[in-house]
Amino acid sequence: MVRKWMVFALSTGLLVTIAGVGFSGADDDDSPLEKVMEKVNKANAKIKQGVRNPATYRKKQKEVADNSKEMVKLAKQSKPMKEALGKAKNEANPQEKWNTLMDAFIEKSEKLSEAANKEAPDYDATKKAFSAVSKTCADCHNVFRVEENF
Ligand code: HEC
Repeated sequence: MVRKWMVFALSTGLLVTIAGVGFSGADDDDSPLEKVMEKVNKANAKIKQGVRNPATYRKKQKEVADNSKEMVKLAKQSKPMKEALGKAKNEANPQEKWNTLMDAFIEKSEKLSEAANKEAPDYDATKKAFSAVSKTCADCHNVFRVEENF
């Protein structure tokens, strides 16, 4: 009986290890922009959870505040990246479009961070500022052909 469990534990452990290696291997192939976007997505998910309703927000205020700051940093970090420019749909000047969309992303993230980092942040104001950020994600993904299934 004991031996059976050992074998079971060992084989599942092995599977987890293989899966882990597989994932980290895929990460290495990601472009720098993709890596930043993965972080953007993580911060975004935390904020989204935190502003779900006023009761959640009361508990997660700090998390929302910190992740909003992080979002500003990541937005600024992604602006100079050029790898997506070739993917623009119907754009005469992809670089200009990219800059405009990135500036909107940076500006809305800064507004969100301002709202969320106030001493007594207002739920409605933070939630509204977050919706404005979400819109900038979709606006850019539409032009640069990113599927929105996250
Ligand atoms: C100005 C453009 C722009 C903005 C703004 C933007 N993204 Fe992206 N995002 C991209 C591009 C381009 C890619 C595709 C990167 C690639 O495949 O190389 C991408 C990819 C992604 C991915 C997929 C990453 C992967 O592993 O392939 C996620 C998730 C994502 N973005 C989330 C977000 C979220 C959430 C926001 C807003 C909070 C956001 N993005 C704002 C341009 C943008």
